[in-house]
Amino acid sequence: MRILKHILMIALIFLMAFSTMTVAFAAVEDTGFSDVSADAWYTDAVMYCTENSLMSGTDETAFSPNESMTRAMLATVLYRMDDSPSVTGTDHFTDTEEDAWYSDGVLWASQNGIISGYNNDTFGTEDAVTREQIAAILWRYAGSPETDVKADFSDEEQISSWAKQAVDWAQSSGYMSGTTGNRFNPVGNATRAEVAAVIMRYQVGQNVSPSEPEMDVNTDTEQNVLVAYFSCTGNTEGVANRISSILDADLYEIIPQIPYTDEDLNYGDDSSRTSLEMNDPSARPAISGNIENMDEYDVVFIGYPIWWGEAPRIINTFLESYDFSGKTIIPFCTSGSSGIGSSAQEIQNSTENAVWMDGHRFGAGATESDVRSWIDGLEVDFVTLAND
Ligand SMILES: Cc1cc2nc3c(=O)[nH]c(=O)nc-3n(C[C@H](O)[C@H](O)[C@H](O)COP(=O)(O)O)c2cc1C
Repeated sequence: MRILKHILMIALIFLMAFSTMTVAFAAVEDTGFSDVSADAWYTDAVMYCTENSLMSGTDETAFSPNESMTRAMLATVLYRMDDSPSVTGTDHFTDTEEDAWYSDGVLWASQNGIISGYNNDTFGTEDAVTREQIAAILWRYAGSPETDVKADFSDEEQISSWAKQAVDWAQSSGYMSGTTGNRFNPVGNATRAEVAAVIMRYQVGQNVSPSEPEMDVNTDTEQNVLVAYFSCTGNTEGVANRISSILDADLYEIIPQIPYTDEDLNYGDDSSRTSLEMNDPSARPAISGNIENMDEYDVVFIGYPIWWGEAPRIINTFLESYDFSGKTIIPFCTSGSSGIGSSAQEIQNSTENAVWMDGHRFGAGATESDVRSWIDGLEVDFVTLAND
């Protein structure tokens, strides 16, 4: 057999007490960041943090919502929340530089016992901040308040003892919520979007008026997740079904206008339909039907079988049929043995301004636990709590 040539893929719904807030809200149409769409779940938080000079973009046009937040960044955000008081002295950390953009924030955070650094005299300047660290740091910033309410996350025992009280407080105050399966995921890294959301919830919860009064806070910030997939022999469909049921996400099957027959799928035949399509990068097999409410989705999983080491051309057709700007796309695939390889990079060219995450390849017999552990490891806050 000519073997496979390339064998080579928040729920916190913000139930904010608007009636008690002094904040005025209006719709945001252009966020000013190419990677933050007007309707992403984190848009309000990004706008809040940037308009109040608590956070800024990673360059002139990008906010990098899915990048990790470092400890130096978090120290700086909290320092700004405290109106950047003047500081004197130098910090004792061995991994900080003098006169760096974070110097004042780090010094202030350590002098005020908000972030004390690690035992070995390092601050962990570039270390990604974990979810339990955020809870503990924000809790200390808030003055280490007592709380009687105990959080009941399913991975409670994995939360470090020094962070438990802070997590109880952060959860009961509505600043942080669980991820899939009511997990807190304490050592998971927090993204810049997640931190922006926590900061906004905290600030607005404290009734701190933003300096810019015109703000948009969408009351429906539940992340809408779509699982779109193409599957001819059911393997990818099986994984798509599992993702959809784990995340309670909508499911959409990409159905070709002309179905693929067994002969079409014969990769041993150089003139079969799939061989011809995969040999022609410009082939765009037509899709039957379309998704009318694509605008409503924040996160789109896109699943496909590996064909000759690539994604089938119909995936390009699908991606070129909608505007994915600002949406997070998470590819996954199934295959006989090939990895996801460069298949996901190749289909990225069919979207503009989407935020692509690394993809994952599953075998034909992927189990529920295989799929669940992949989803749990994704650095996406699939906030799905109901707002009641
Ligand atoms: C035309 C064609 C090409 C394929 N190419 C590869 C390949 O390059 N590497 C591989 O591991 N599997 C390859 N496969 C196997 C499929 O990726 C695998 O069976 C997949 O799970 C099928 O998914 P589905 O059931 O959702 O259609 C190919 C299958 C077909 C039909």
